[in-house]
Amino acid sequence: RAEVVINGSSSPAVVERSNESIKHNMRPASAKWRHNQTLSLRIRKQILKFLDAEKDISVLKGTLKPGDIIHYIFDRDSTMNVSQNLYELLPRTSPLKNKHFRTCAIVGNSGVLLNSGCGQEIDTHSFVIRCNLAPVQEYARDVGLKTDLVTMNPSVIQRAFEDLVNATWREKLLQRLHSLNGSILWIPAFMARGGKERVEWVHELILKHRVDVRTAYPSLRLLHAVRGYWLTNKVHIKRPTTGLLMYTLATRFCNQIYLYGFWPFPLDQNQNPVKYHYYDSLKYGYTSQASPHTMPLEFKALKSLHEQGALKLTVGQCD
Ligand code: CTP
Repeated sequence: RAEVVINGSSSPAVVERSNESIKHNMRPASAKWRHNQTLSLRIRKQILKFLDAEKDISVLKGTLKPGDIIHYIFDRDSTMNVSQNLYELLPRTSPLKNKHFRTCAIVGNSGVLLNSGCGQEIDTHSFVIRCNLAPVQEYARDVGLKTDLVTMNPSVIQRAFEDLVNATWREKLLQRLHSLNGSILWIPAFMARGGKERVEWVHELILKHRVDVRTAYPSLRLLHAVRGYWLTNKVHIKRPTTGLLMYTLATRFCNQIYLYGFWPFPLDQNQNPVKYHYYDSLKYGYTSQASPHTMPLEFKALKSLHEQGALKLTVGQCD
């Protein structure tokens, strides 16, 4: 029977304060990594006790109607109404219904991807998940182009598309959405207050320009279920990152999971500087009190799963 040991006993505070890149040295890419099928299946089974990606990946049309009131998951005192546009864009059936893939890539946004040459390898996977509408065209050599699912936190509209202040930014977002070509656009619309307007702008663009995307909105229980699963494995996460959410969901429909662009440290394994994101100038902020994420802690858990063969983390160059 395969044992899953996801986390040791070190406290999150200690993990966050030290220079993690040294502690997290991985074996060279050429070192043998073998997929542990038994362990992957066991993890899938365990996660299924907390959530089911087929259902929790999206709220469905039948369960809400325009005007319904939703309490934000992280701001329970604040509410939003289900708009007509949101209702129209809710899927009728799960976008992952009966889906099974041999291999999946989850592409995080760390600058460790720059000069990795991983684009080709990423594009060979059966299902490719990306985060927060990160650009691909200009970085194709390192990050690939194939996109089957991409997430979009409402804050991305502010950070990467200047809150659509003028026609140029609206056009940029519209082009990015058109480039998705029928893939799944996963919008955590019910997580935290403050993003409603931004989400509505995106809905208007999609409907007005008949953009070919399949929108999906994580279920109200997903966040707590994901936290619950990791908590029972002694990984104390305040608010799971998009990357960790995607891995947790992917266990349901992917036989083998490959992670790229997961490296929440300012230095690489050879002590060279690494950008926080491969495509912008955002700085490392995860150690601040204000940041809700505990990325190094998540990384430690993922690395442990890599060492046991449950997933493969690539943090250097691809062969
Ligand atoms: N990531 C990482 N190392 C980095 C940056 C990102 O491992 N230096 C991973 C994280 O799992 C993250 C994912 O890549 O969730 C996507 O990055 P990003 O867009 O920054 O995601 P979030 O931090 O989850 O988004 P937000 O800041 O909007 O909450």
